[in-house]
Amino acid sequence: MTSTVVVGGFFGDEGKGKIISYLAIKDNPKIIVRGGAGPNAGHTIRDGDKVYKVRMLPSGFLNENAKVMIGPGVVINPDVLNKEIQDFDVTGRAFIDKHCGIIEEIHLNRDSKGELKEKIGSTGSGTGPANADRAMRVLKLAKDFDSLSSLITDVSLEVNSALDANENVLVEGTQGTFLSLWHGTYPFVTSKDVTASGICADIGLGPTKVNEVIVVFKSYVTRVGTGPLDKELSLEDAEKKGWSEFGTVTGRQRRAADFDFDLARRAIMLNSATQIAITKLDVIFTDCAGKTSYDELSDDAKAFITNIEKELNTPVTIIGTGPAVNDVVDRRI
Ligand code: IMP
Ligand code: MG
Repeated sequence: MTSTVVVGGFFGDEGKGKIISYLAIKDNPKIIVRGGAGPNAGHTIRDGDKVYKVRMLPSGFLNENAKVMIGPGVVINPDVLNKEIQDFDVTGRAFIDKHCGIIEEIHLNRDSKGELKEKIGSTGSGTGPANADRAMRVLKLAKDFDSLSSLITDVSLEVNSALDANENVLVEGTQGTFLSLWHGTYPFVTSKDVTASGICADIGLGPTKVNEVIVVFKSYVTRVGTGPLDKELSLEDAEKKGWSEFGTVTGRQRRAADFDFDLARRAIMLNSATQIAITKLDVIFTDCAGKTSYDELSDDAKAFITNIEKELNTPVTIIGTGPAVNDVVDRRI
């Protein structure tokens, strides 16, 4: 059995979606299961000329043999979920837990104005207010809606049974370590813990059953919304470096800074990382675009990777070299 947990090491948008979709195909897990906050997440996945923007389903759905599941700790917007199930053609293999919380109109309204929107720069997806209602024990859960009954399964039992049967399970985190409600830059954080432990709690997987924790870092740091960002570049300078990005959910321009070793070191600690994935190496070293073997990388790019391994004392096993699912150097093999 191998359970692999993939989480973000900075402020979200590290490129987890692409890494997870690669692992979902390469490692052929039986189940790909999502923890994390809710539809505030946005992952972009490119498969050939198709582009998927995913907010609710696990990013691993490209593997048609895998079941995709959402753990009981995640809050769901049924409209977003149903649309993705249809658009991405996963009917019959997408499941949620009966204890997933449900976002309703009232949560969207509360998230679209006031403190959350203006001070915290929330995504307006209703995720925070729904989690607040859950803490107040007034949030409705998936089991309270007949319309969701065909999607419900016991996610925790399925995940643990698959591992007992020696199957691979891929656990997908959302957001990033420093957006964690416990460990992040409070109050400029999301409404849940989103470190590896929190993600595992969201799906009902205990610590002794976790085999690998892959922390994903982008080759530079970005942050969308408010909150501190050390050594933040001007939007102009970020653009010059080719680091200008826009949020998947909100369309807001992301703020950017150089790779931050202090943050990264702390993320390795907080998540008990066993491996590192580095994304967008091709944005920093354009000559690495589309490369799939380590030997083909330029000396500068190799030095960048070696330095990260030295500074963080953890192996860089997976390297993203382009937007497509297979633009990856996989050093595990
Ligand atoms: P909320 O999670 O919508 O309440 O937003 C709280 C903060 O987390 C805001 O700064 C958001 O921009 C940020 N945030 C939430 N989810 C994500 C994500 O998936 N990627 C990047 N930032 C996020
Ligand atoms: Mg994102």
